[in-house]
Amino acid sequence: MCGIIGYAGRREAGPVVVGGLKKLEYRGYDSFGFAISGSKIAVYKKNGRISDFNESEFSANGSLGIGHTRWATHGVPDDKNAHPHMDCSGKIAIVHNGIIENYAELRKELISEGHIFTSDTDSEIIAHLLEKYYDGDLLSAVTKTTEFLDGAYAILALCEDEKRIVAARQSSPLVLGIGDGEIFASSDITPMLEYTQKVIFLEDGDIVSFDKSSLLIMNAGKEVSRESELIDWDIDAARKGGFDHFMLKEIYEEPDVFYNAFYFEPEEEFVSKIRDADEITVVGCGTSYHAGLIFRYLMEEYAGMPVRVEIASEASYFKPRPGSFIIAVSQSGETADTLAVLRQAKSAGCTTMAVTNVCGSSITRVADYSLFMRAGPEISVAATKSFIAQVAVFMRLVDELSDKTLSESFTGIHRVIEECLMVDVDAAVSMCKGAKNLFFIGRGAYYPVSLEGALKLKEITYIHAEGYPAGELKHGPFSLLDEDTPVVAVCPEHDSRALMISNIREIKSRGSPVIALGGAGDIDLEEIADVFIPLPKAPESGDIITSSVILQLLAYRTAVAMGRDVDKPRNLAKSVTVV
Ligand code: M6R
Repeated sequence: MCGIIGYAGRREAGPVVVGGLKKLEYRGYDSFGFAISGSKIAVYKKNGRISDFNESEFSANGSLGIGHTRWATHGVPDDKNAHPHMDCSGKIAIVHNGIIENYAELRKELISEGHIFTSDTDSEIIAHLLEKYYDGDLLSAVTKTTEFLDGAYAILALCEDEKRIVAARQSSPLVLGIGDGEIFASSDITPMLEYTQKVIFLEDGDIVSFDKSSLLIMNAGKEVSRESELIDWDIDAARKGGFDHFMLKEIYEEPDVFYNAFYFEPEEEFVSKIRDADEITVVGCGTSYHAGLIFRYLMEEYAGMPVRVEIASEASYFKPRPGSFIIAVSQSGETADTLAVLRQAKSAGCTTMAVTNVCGSSITRVADYSLFMRAGPEISVAATKSFIAQVAVFMRLVDELSDKTLSESFTGIHRVIEECLMVDVDAAVSMCKGAKNLFFIGRGAYYPVSLEGALKLKEITYIHAEGYPAGELKHGPFSLLDEDTPVVAVCPEHDSRALMISNIREIKSRGSPVIALGGAGDIDLEEIADVFIPLPKAPESGDIITSSVILQLLAYRTAVAMGRDVDKPRNLAKSVTVV
């Protein structure tokens, strides 16, 4: 995820764009850059953070500017991969947020036509396509270019010969700010709030041309009008995109996050190494470990391949066998325990792969292969969208190693995840917030879902919660059940449903209230549970995602109801770099 900003107006564009990038930094902080259009286009771009930018290093006058702050996905974070990207003539500059899925073939084609590329990014192809189609009208060139792009994009383009900015949006956020003699375009409203509160949220397919006082919005070849809205957010709240907490904002990003993480093309080389490995082992900590456990169940079910999953801090007590394929999963890519096992495995002669959210992080430098979750920066200490992204990456791998039934059935999953965000968890929150202890139970892949649900709840509410395999409660923990110990049962339409229902009956007869997550219209479950949360209808195995999203919301809302410091729970840190 990246942040972009464009400005056309009566002020000097440079300070407006730089100030805007500082507000967008939470969206990515690998590198930054901007282009200011005066008599010529002047570009500055650099690895590192905009907050470290020294204004004396660059000055350019002009009333048009575009800027970018980057969360690297294609190409490591360095100066050359920073945006803006230019065409061969240096007359066209673009910034881009999103992922161009078909960039490799477009790049090959453009190179064969003589275009010279200077970065490893997917985004640079946009500048060269604009060069190819530019015949004196930037709006037409952008319109033509978007016809060739598959994937997600919010683009801002400048051309030295024109005094306007042209923008395009498809599946990546882009909002306009309408000021007095000035117009802004940005990934969110934070950079424009100090200048105007009148905004227009663009829609997919919109292509916009604007200067300081005129605005034209086109969609599917026709001019369209979009309603403006007045925003009354204060600047601090808007840094969280209008959400009270980063955690909630990050949960709300999950529909896009799943899509971005799931749809990638795994390299044949490591896929065949996994296939031929003597043993596949996943290592990770906390939430990442839980994602690994889900992978194990899915690999067994869809690909018929056994997978070993170890908590990283324990894995170092087992000797990695040469011939094993070790997958280290870590949102931050910096977790010391995970890194230690990876190094150990590497020196034992295993093949290793990192699954992480952070390009250039330590585990990517150690591992033989890296897979990126592309979830964008996660700021809240509680992992939410990164868990969804990890599961998505693992699901894609399972798909590649089996008969691809998941990718076929997941085409509409984006909408299903959106529906989860609307699910009412109030009754469950009332039950949880008064409890001192809770159990979360599930079977099969829903056992790690329940482990993760319990981790989330305990981490941010400080209520003691345990995830347990549903069939195992009777082997000891039953003695803890009473009317003050609610049990959250994850019981979707799955092979395990009948056994789950008898486990719930056993629990009920020991006096514990039950909150059950199950298929909408599951009358049995609705009848026996004290609180029933219907899961939106999902494709096979999609309930792993829907139930996880809803348990995250349950934890979040319970923590809010208890007045907890949701984004920064006590005693914790986002990245644990000590063993
Ligand atoms: O960055 P990592 O994924 O390696 O972090 C591992 C754990 O520290 C992390 O998942 C932790 O459990 C989360 N804060 C839980 O929400």
